[in-house]
Amino acid sequence: MMKRITFILVFLVVNISYGQMTETLLKENWRFSKGDFETAKNVDFNDSEWEKVKVPHDWAIKGPFDKKHDAQRVAILQDGEKMPTEKSGRTGALPYMGTAWYRLKFDTPKRLNQEKVLIHFDGAMSEAKVYVNGHYIGEHPYGYGYFYFDITQYLKEGSQNTLAVRLHNEPKSSRWYPGAGIYRKVKLITKQQNSIKRWGNTITTPIVSPVKAKVVVKTKTIGQVDEVKTTIKTLNGKIIISSISKESFDGEYENTLAVERPELWSPEHPNLYQMVTTTFVKGHQTDEIIEKFGFRSISFTSDKGFELNGVRRKIKGVCLHHDLGPLGTAINRSALKRQLVMMKEMGADAIRTAHNMPSIEQLELCDELGLMVVAESFDEWKKAKVDNGYHRFFDEWAEIDVQHLVRATKNHPSIIMWSSGNEVPDQWGNEGVKRAKWLQDIFHKEDPTRPVTVGMDQVEAVMANGFGAIMDVPGLNYRTQLYEEAHEKFPQGFVLGSETASTVSSRGVYHFPVKEYKVKKHDDFQSSSYDMEACPWSNLPEDDFILQDDFDWVLGEFVWTGFDYLGEPSPYNEEWPSRSSYFGICDLAGIPKDRFYLYKSRWNTQEETLHILPHWNWEGREGKVTPIYVYTNYNKAELFINGVSQGVRIKDKTKRLDRYRLRWMDTKYEAGVVKVVAYNDNDEIVVTEEIKTAGKPHHLRLEADRSTIKADGEDLSFVTVTVVDKNDNPCPTANIQLDFEVKGNSTFKAVCNGDATSLQLFHKPTMKTFNGKLVAIVQSSKSKGTSELVVKGKGVKSGSIKIQSIQKKDNSLTDK
Ligand code: GAL
Repeated sequence: MMKRITFILVFLVVNISYGQMTETLLKENWRFSKGDFETAKNVDFNDSEWEKVKVPHDWAIKGPFDKKHDAQRVAILQDGEKMPTEKSGRTGALPYMGTAWYRLKFDTPKRLNQEKVLIHFDGAMSEAKVYVNGHYIGEHPYGYGYFYFDITQYLKEGSQNTLAVRLHNEPKSSRWYPGAGIYRKVKLITKQQNSIKRWGNTITTPIVSPVKAKVVVKTKTIGQVDEVKTTIKTLNGKIIISSISKESFDGEYENTLAVERPELWSPEHPNLYQMVTTTFVKGHQTDEIIEKFGFRSISFTSDKGFELNGVRRKIKGVCLHHDLGPLGTAINRSALKRQLVMMKEMGADAIRTAHNMPSIEQLELCDELGLMVVAESFDEWKKAKVDNGYHRFFDEWAEIDVQHLVRATKNHPSIIMWSSGNEVPDQWGNEGVKRAKWLQDIFHKEDPTRPVTVGMDQVEAVMANGFGAIMDVPGLNYRTQLYEEAHEKFPQGFVLGSETASTVSSRGVYHFPVKEYKVKKHDDFQSSSYDMEACPWSNLPEDDFILQDDFDWVLGEFVWTGFDYLGEPSPYNEEWPSRSSYFGICDLAGIPKDRFYLYKSRWNTQEETLHILPHWNWEGREGKVTPIYVYTNYNKAELFINGVSQGVRIKDKTKRLDRYRLRWMDTKYEAGVVKVVAYNDNDEIVVTEEIKTAGKPHHLRLEADRSTIKADGEDLSFVTVTVVDKNDNPCPTANIQLDFEVKGNSTFKAVCNGDATSLQLFHKPTMKTFNGKLVAIVQSSKSKGTSELVVKGKGVKSGSIKIQSIQKKDNSLTDK
């Protein structure tokens, strides 16, 4: 029997312009102070001595790092630990805890008697309490949740108003660096009394085909609206079709539109359209919202697995935490875009927003770049993982947080699935099963078009107690040995690798002898980039590849993680100064580790991959066995050291470690050239690659991801600095202290070397290279012009690079 759950739907929202509605971003001129101040909510409170900050803002990212910050003496039960030990870097060793206040004076709208004013937060970390003109307006405890309040009645017309926000972070409230402060955007929204309800527009495409699509727009209104008009346009503004509804049911209007030959949305072709929704009262327009949307269908069936637009595919996903490495958690669009573009270059087609609601900017980027999204909500339900985690709020707030998640983001075509939780301890016991159903029902009620998953790690428990059986999509975190049994026992007929691998490595670090390990702790507190080390619960990349390649019913995977993140430095949880993760495919600076090329060789079918590891600078290892691995999309290659063949290797389906990698296990080190020659399936040489032993550090190579940026005071250029020898070969062991200066109108923003044990501060313009590399970040100002990043270091010739800032009207997302 074919088991079928089909979720067909689609669309969009990416804010653009508004008719009678105005949205004002509250970015500048905030005042901020750590500490608790009883009277800070009051209008006449004197905040003139407080720090002037811009929002989004992360108060803790400047450190300093200290093992005392939130040192958690715990046993991590989900990691299988029995005895508590001190986990010094668990939340990044950064000072995120405590109370702080933000205050802002803002202008009031002109016609308060006819308008509604909302204050909206995309997220505030955490336990936000909001005051306007001294009045308590409301609160929202979950740091990742979106929320807004109607503040109309508290505003003073024709004068300045005062907004005050109190935030409080308990220690032991997170398993990773949560950030601190108003780290996402804040908006003041002014709209007429008779208008579209906030988050009240729902666009679905219940029928999608290349020939014709049906679009249904449900518009919830407030006040007395007479009619709602919806118009679909191309992104260039060409009108495709309009429809008007004058029939309201409890304030909700419905328009149905037919679109001939729609260009469908997919990761390969992220086609978007605009939906213009307008309300009228007695012939006068009272509101207009313009949202981007896309046409796509999703379906999950036991016989065809996951299909997008009717085409079966396996999900090639990565999990991403919300921090942006050296920038902390304060949202920055170009930093987010850089991450997503790199994941796409690797061939990924999906992300999972672990373990919380994504930022709106991230969703907009996924819509536009073409990445499917599993939008997650919680890491904890009612049962605790950390002493002061979300379990304190679950009963009162979980339903609200889920409603807000779905209502705020439901129109993004990129979201293909909701996740109601990650490895929640509620997987054990009957109450947890009820909670899983309760939450899934809330998602279904809010959005009947998408399935719900939970990342489940207690696979034995959820097979036994029914928890796994009720999920729309059973997601397994690790436990590759239980996939087949879970597929047997669960009724859905498919299994998703909701979290996979958790292989650990440090960029440019290789340990000998090369062996497969679970929890290997090396003296340097680094993990080997031979990609053979995992944790007790986790596995090597190929263990997931094998399941996906051998079983149709495995829907694909979300690798833990695309990038390293602050906190959770497994396997060095107890080893100070480890303070950030080792799981990333890219390091904390965003530099690819070797694993990037293993995934690319499998996922990016458009490009060739031929990558050699380790580096070839092993003074002192002469004559010693130094294995060489090659990650390539080709099945066969021959390796040469200084022109001498080391033999041919062919991928071997019957051997776990030779199925996806080419390995030369007996090669001995001698300085010189390592060359690999790849063959196609007709045994023709298709491509070669070589690496060389580098000489002494000589100069610095600077490469910007974008050398032209927008003069908007926010845009960033990420400059990778590589120490090279006189022939321009990278020096893979060079650890040189570098100093940075930005001349001209841009500024130095941060620097990161990807070393999980470095205690050098990100915002100071000096840092040591880690294995020959680091990334410096330059930020534009609001004036256009040329600026120059100059980098100096002892014993090497300095380097510099020019960055242009230009004024651009559009928010072009394609100018990588
Ligand atoms: C999973 C968990 C993630 C992270 C990961 C590390 O169990 O869901 O948040 O902790 O392990 O391997």
